[in-house]
Order: sequence, then structure tokens, then C-alpha cells
Amino acid sequence: MSKKILVLAGDGIGPEIVAEAVKVLNALKAEGAIDVTLEEALVGGAAYDAFGDPLPEETLAAAKASDAVLLGAVGGPKWEPLHISKRPEKGLLGLRAGLGLFANLRPAVLYPQLAAASTLKPEIVSGLDIMIVRELTGDIYFGQPRGIETLPSGERRGLNTMVYTESEVERICRVAFDIAMKRGKKVCSVDKANVLECTEMWREVATKTAADYPEIELSHMYVDNAAMQLVRAPKQFDVMVTGNIFGDILSDCAAMLTGSIGMLPSASLNEHGQGMYEPIHGSAPDIAGRGVANPLATILSVAMMLRYSLGAPEAADRIDAAVSKVLDQGLRTADIMSEGMRQVGTAEMGDAVVAALSA
Ligand code: NAD
Ligand code: IPM
Ligand code: MN
Repeated sequence: MSKKILVLAGDGIGPEIVAEAVKVLNALKAEGAIDVTLEEALVGGAAYDAFGDPLPEETLAAAKASDAVLLGAVGGPKWEPLHISKRPEKGLLGLRAGLGLFANLRPAVLYPQLAAASTLKPEIVSGLDIMIVRELTGDIYFGQPRGIETLPSGERRGLNTMVYTESEVERICRVAFDIAMKRGKKVCSVDKANVLECTEMWREVATKTAADYPEIELSHMYVDNAAMQLVRAPKQFDVMVTGNIFGDILSDCAAMLTGSIGMLPSASLNEHGQGMYEPIHGSAPDIAGRGVANPLATILSVAMMLRYSLGAPEAADRIDAAVSKVLDQGLRTADIMSEGMRQVGTAEMGDAVVAALSA
């Protein structure tokens, strides 16, 4: 039976990069390698402009009714003055919460062809293959109380609350341990247990849960050290598991090890295997509308979708191989450009991946 994919292009470079990912899906569909039906809807600033709501009910309902969601990016300066409840980012957070997408997988893999594109020395990053497992529906992003209040003195106070329950920590740790069992069997749990009770408990639960996985080598690291270690010696990591805010920050840092944030895909999964797939980067307002954004993170997100939600691992492998091939051909968007390579735009990169699929 045909699988339903909801396509949410979003804002900024979102529509540009998603168009390339859709080309890849349609190419696989045309040759019968996958059986999918694509549907489109609005989210983020685009949805606010059309309906006054960054996550219209119809969009959430369509997402719930689909087998997988492909999302570009949301946000931009145009919508920054809005109240937080109407901002594009609220649309994305609403999708994550509404679909229960608690497990966010962000693989930071260095394609050998891009060793020269990283800002780090090739010997530091060559062979890099880290899986960051970020909890996505808890933490300071969703904790109560939150808000900006006015004190009796007239001064304002802004507050957010870091919260995790034991079951939330346990389920994300299990995801990380299960993934690690199929890889290097090493998990580094990242916290701030020296200062924050919330993550002191996180560490205890991670340790307790690991007892069910005797083959896993579990280590713990404070988040400030983890940020430093990612830049100093990133290959010490296999799987990293952490909370929502730390995972957000560490994954942008890890992205740069791979040459560009434009290379890092992600999968956000719920307990039923349903998923949303998106590049980890944002709407890049500084380059939007110029046709220069790197579409590879979005195209690689489609590969994750085929693997994790649509049961089409062969097609996923072909996308990964096609990306590798275009890099072999020397094609580079501006963000991963290096000497002797040929610079191409967003659409040319997408076309090259499609051509490489069947070559
Ligand atoms: P960003 O990730 O959009 O951009 C950071 C830098 O990386 C910019 O210089 C940008 O040009 C570059 N970049 C990002 N993606 C690229 C790509 N595919 N190819 C080439 N270069 C790329 O982060 P930001 O500037 O902090 O945020 C911009 C907006 O995006 C904000 O509104 C923010 O809230 C939103 N945002 C959305 C998501 C999402 O939708 N998942 C993620 C992060 C940020
Ligand atoms: C990401 C983004 C989002 C986050 C924002 C846009 C809500 O930065 O997907 O990494 O903080 O999770
Ligand atoms: Mn982020």
C-alpha cells in the first residue's frame, strides 16, 4: 500500500531545499523503487501568513494521518516581533509535541570527500561517525512554569523550567542503547549533574537503565566538557544521548565537524515508528531566495525517512550512495566549497543526486 508523506516546506530556504528532496523521492517513485503519495501543507511563518497560526489544525491532523513528515525549516526575521505563541518555531514544537516525537536522531558523519571542508584539521575529523540522540519533547523547551512576569518592583522576570520525568529519561536512553548495540556499543550520556538536579536524576536513570544492556559501555560527561571534547577529539564518541537543549546546541557544533550544517539530517520518532524528517539547520534567512543553500541535509533526511518509517532501506542506501557520488564528482554548494571543486547551486545539486541515483 502506498505510504503517505506530508511535505512541509516552511520558510526561508525551506521551500528551496525541500524541492530537491522531493525530486529525489519522485525519481525513486517513478522507477517503482518506492510507493509513496506526497501531500503538502503549511507550517511556520508561511502558515501564520495564510491562517494566523503557525500550526493550523489541518496541518497537525494531516501530519498525524501520514506515515512520515518531511520538513524544511521554519522561522525568520519577519516573524520575530510576534508573540511567542504565534512564532513559526511554535509550529515546529507543536508538531513534535503533537506527534509525540521524543527521539531525535542526528547523525554527524564526515564524508571523506569533505575532509577539506571542515574547519577542523582532517586528522581530527576523518572517519567521524557520531550519532547524537536528543530527547525532543521535554526539558526546558516544554517545562512549566514559563513566561515573562512583572515583579511588584516593576522589574520583569523571565523564566523557563528544566523538567524530566524518570520515564522520559529511561525511554530516550533505551533508544540510544538500542542504536549503540548496532554500532560501537559506546554511549556517552551528557548532562550537567554537578549543578542541575534535573540532570542529576538523568544520570542516575541512565546508569540504572544501562544495567539491561551489559554490553554497552556507558560514560557520563558534563555538557560544557562535551562541547569542548567534540571540537578537541570528536572521534572518541560513538553514540551521545542528552536532553533537548543540550542536544540542540551540541548537534550544531557536531554539524560543523562534517563540513557544514547543511550536511546534517535528522529523524524525530515517536513510539509507533512514525517520524518527522528534517535537516537540523534553520531557514537561513541570510541566503534564502538565492538558490545557493545546500540541499544535502534534507536529501539525507529523506534517506532516514525511507529507512526508519517507510521500510525501504535499499532505496535509502541508494540515496546515501548518490550523495557520496556527487561529492566524488567534485560538486559543492558554497558552504562546502573548497579548492579545485566545482561550485553549484541548490537545484543543480539536487539534479546531480537524482542523476547519480540511477547511474
Ligand atoms: P540557521 O541554521 O538557519 O543558519 C545558521 C547559518 O548556517 C547561516 O549562516 C546559514 O546561511 C547557514 N546555513 C544553514 N543551513 C544551510 C544550508 N542548507 N546551506 C548553506 N548554509 C546554511 O540558524 P539561525 O540563523 O540561527 O536561524 C534562522 C532561523 O531559522 C530562525 O528563525 C530560527 O528560529 C530558525 N531555525 C529553524 C530550525 C528548524 O526549522 N528546524 C532550526 C534552526 C533554526
Ligand atoms: C532545531 C531548532 C529548533 C530547536 C527551533 C527552531 C525550535 O533549533 O531543530 O534544532 O531548538 O529544536
Ligand atoms: Mn537547533
